[in-house]
Amino acid sequence: MNLVVVSDPKLADEILHTKGVEFGSRRQNMVFDIFTDKGQDMVFSIYGDHWQKMRRVVTASFFTNKVVQQYREKWEEKMDLVVKDLYRDEKASVEGVVIRRRLLLMQYNILYRMMFDMRFESMEDPLLKQITQLKTERTMLGKSFQFNYGEFMPILKPFLRGYLERCRELQSRRLIFFNKYSIEKKIKALDRDKHNINCAIDHILEAKKNGEINEKNVKHIVENINVAGIETTLWSMEWAIVELVNHPNVQSKLRDEISNILERNPLTESDLDRLPYLQAVVKETLRLHTPIPLLLPHMNLEDAELNGYTIPKGPKVVVNAWWLPNNPAWWKKSEEFLPEQFLEEEGGTDDVRGGRVDFRYLPFGVGRRSCPGIILALPILGIVIGKLVMNFELCPPEGMEKINASERGGLFSLRITNHSTVAF
Ligand code: HEM
Repeated sequence: MNLVVVSDPKLADEILHTKGVEFGSRRQNMVFDIFTDKGQDMVFSIYGDHWQKMRRVVTASFFTNKVVQQYREKWEEKMDLVVKDLYRDEKASVEGVVIRRRLLLMQYNILYRMMFDMRFESMEDPLLKQITQLKTERTMLGKSFQFNYGEFMPILKPFLRGYLERCRELQSRRLIFFNKYSIEKKIKALDRDKHNINCAIDHILEAKKNGEINEKNVKHIVENINVAGIETTLWSMEWAIVELVNHPNVQSKLRDEISNILERNPLTESDLDRLPYLQAVVKETLRLHTPIPLLLPHMNLEDAELNGYTIPKGPKVVVNAWWLPNNPAWWKKSEEFLPEQFLEEEGGTDDVRGGRVDFRYLPFGVGRRSCPGIILALPILGIVIGKLVMNFELCPPEGMEKINASERGGLFSLRITNHSTVAF
């Protein structure tokens, strides 16, 4: 297999921007062919009409400023419930709690409210338990050694029969599950009242009714959002919290900024623009702990030129989005957690939401295949981190000085090794 690794900002610009169409496909493999029904989804499909249609439908349903404004109060309510639960939990202030568990419930409630108008009472909710179980099974199969030799040596396919069968069986269970518990209910509700459009799936079903996409595409959109939207944001929350625990000076500077600007008012989405240090904390977290360090692999469908080389069609093209913002040649203190790096450079770097793009900093990618979820992830991260710091001093559990911030890799991800226990 030809592998192209890009670790230079100018070449990242070419791959993602100038030659974004040429390199805008994703590489297929036999396992992802099963998981995506041979490209019926959006995230792993090749660049072309199908992807464009899917991206249009998904963007209109989820990723616009109008949608953010429609839901931001709901997000804030769900975050206030996290704060309330932490105040109520006696263990939280001394022994500490594994904060990821509570944030996981919050993040599912945020996305499922937007997608299906649904909510889960607790992590013990049987439906949520099934969703997370199915997700874990898929992660395990995607990480399996058999996945790797299937991708690199398809000639060994006969030996993979059992593994591929498990992938097929799991995928079919996942799609049946999403259909039964969320999509079908919504179809029935729309049949009863076609004007009852109040969440993303209603818009997506409308696009299906208009013939823009088909039934399989609908299921795969739901599946894509489940895969792309939950864990990425959670890993970043975990990293931000751990870095704030391990850097009490940053934490108190952040608390001072929030209390000076907001005084005693609650933090809302509309305040984020007035809180540059909070934004810098989020950016610095994504710089030092890039959740998808190599982006998702890109691919050129036809032979292409890059930096004087001919890249034969069909390679795996990865942009090293971790190295670009961690290369000491371009960042003064690349190994430290130092949000000030973003304040000093303000105006020079992309403001992440738009503005001038700096190809040394690409946690969400850039260009056609960049992450559309940025419009949700950044405010969600900013508000939740801000609310926690406003209400609590985030500390290591009693008897510990720091929290272990070591990393481990997944199929596409870089996440914290242990889910941290934090005292509030
Ligand atoms: C793609 C990062 C949150 C939906 C991507 C890519 C990256 C990324 C690096 C691939 C870009 C490329 O290949 O060039 C992140 C990070 C997040 C986050 C760091 C949070 C901190 C979200 C959320 C959603 C989402 C909350 C949805 C609710 C997607 C989708 C794609 C994508 C649908 C595929 C786009 C395409 O192929 O056209 N994300 N993401 N992401 N992300 Fe995110």
